[in-house]
Amino acid sequence: MELPIIEPFKIKMVENIYSSTKEQRENWIKDASFNLFNLKSEQVCIDLLTDSGTGAMSDKQWSAIMLGDESYAGASSYYKLKEAIKDITGFDFFLPTHQGRAAENVLFSVLVKEGDLVPGNSHFDTTKGHIEFRKATAVDCTIDDAADPISWHPFKGNVDIKKLENLLKTNPSEKISCILVTITNNTAGGQPVSMSNLREVRKLSLKYGVKLIIDSARFAENACFIKLREEGYADKEIRDIAREMFSYADGMTMSSKKDAIVNMGGFIGFRDEELFRQASTYNIIYEGFITYGGMSGRDMNALAQGLYEGTEFLYLKSRINQVAYLGSKLKEYGIPSLEPYGGHAIFIDAKRFLPHIPREEFPGQTLAIEIYTEGGVRGVEIGALMADRDPVTRQNRFPELEMVRLAIPRRVYTDNHMDYVAAVIRNVFERRNQIKKGIKINWEAPIMRHFTVRLEKL
Ligand code: F0G
Repeated sequence: MELPIIEPFKIKMVENIYSSTKEQRENWIKDASFNLFNLKSEQVCIDLLTDSGTGAMSDKQWSAIMLGDESYAGASSYYKLKEAIKDITGFDFFLPTHQGRAAENVLFSVLVKEGDLVPGNSHFDTTKGHIEFRKATAVDCTIDDAADPISWHPFKGNVDIKKLENLLKTNPSEKISCILVTITNNTAGGQPVSMSNLREVRKLSLKYGVKLIIDSARFAENACFIKLREEGYADKEIRDIAREMFSYADGMTMSSKKDAIVNMGGFIGFRDEELFRQASTYNIIYEGFITYGGMSGRDMNALAQGLYEGTEFLYLKSRINQVAYLGSKLKEYGIPSLEPYGGHAIFIDAKRFLPHIPREEFPGQTLAIEIYTEGGVRGVEIGALMADRDPVTRQNRFPELEMVRLAIPRRVYTDNHMDYVAAVIRNVFERRNQIKKGIKINWEAPIMRHFTVRLEKL
């Protein structure tokens, strides 16, 4: 028989999981104003809020931490990281930052000005936040297939080349800060972008004289999907695929908390020394000197090691396989989720799960609350609440997809935990008709409201 795909690691250290009763959770979520970000971690049993910074580091990463060089300038840890970034991405210049949004902040301080447009494929919320904060506009040019939760497109995160070219054709290039391609496309469901799509986007970026930046948080998962799904890549190494992806870009922002399997960290990669120089000034203001930028030496060491571990094919295959295992369990129970399954998460389709709850009552958040109270599983709403209000009209935005994301931390949970999660959601699904009402907002921040919003059950 064909041998199953296994995790290419074993467990050396364990951490306690907290259990609780339904009654306790009902009280806790009420005290948290029905915002799952307000829960204490002890109040959560299986935490699928995010795959960001929640991964388990390896023995090699922990050993690298002991060898960290904490010199303010020119630390060996910086050079070690520089070498790893050059090797894996091909970028000659880089700046460390404390996380991904900090990389966005530094780079956009150079690139984005008031009135600009930033076309791309479903910008992540902090990315959009940094763009809108500068009074510029993020223009979503993702392919239409991405808005359909059941259409089976192997690269559902792709940029719609026609939409992009239309925008580039009808606007002066000085008005376009850059084209921003997010791999994998988190907001559209952890969906990959194909190599041929990146190539097409690059052609347009050169034709119209606009920079192409890759938001690379999950670049290794994207490379793995290219290997598994795109013609001509089956025999290529993940790192060769990654280098090819980055060869089409002028720069990258990275949240190292995802595919580089560290708990904190980020960086910016640059092809052009001039852009690197300009960004360096902002790095010094916002993050720290250019050879540490908000990271300690030990963390840069762990990151350098994590970049290699995160680009191992066997690891990536087992990870993507675990996510798909949860997806197929849910499917077996008749629970609607976005397909194909994402690289880092399963996205439950709240519109089909709770069709009787109107969008104004935030069915995604309502479902996330129910899943938490049922079994202590914490996911996150990716829908109207997260989409914020339109910065000009101040009206609620209602994106096509209304989802609850179950993001799987790297190397943390077993398939047994996935069975538990699926059982919890099945129980909610079986009583879905008893969930009569959604929620309303009591207080919200003017931007990125979902992190701090206070809610009330209707
Ligand atoms: N870009 C993408 C595609 C992301 O998913 C994230 C973070 C960032 C940028 C920002 O990076 O958190 O290091 O500042 N995503 C996390 C998530 C928070 O849960 O999806 P950061």
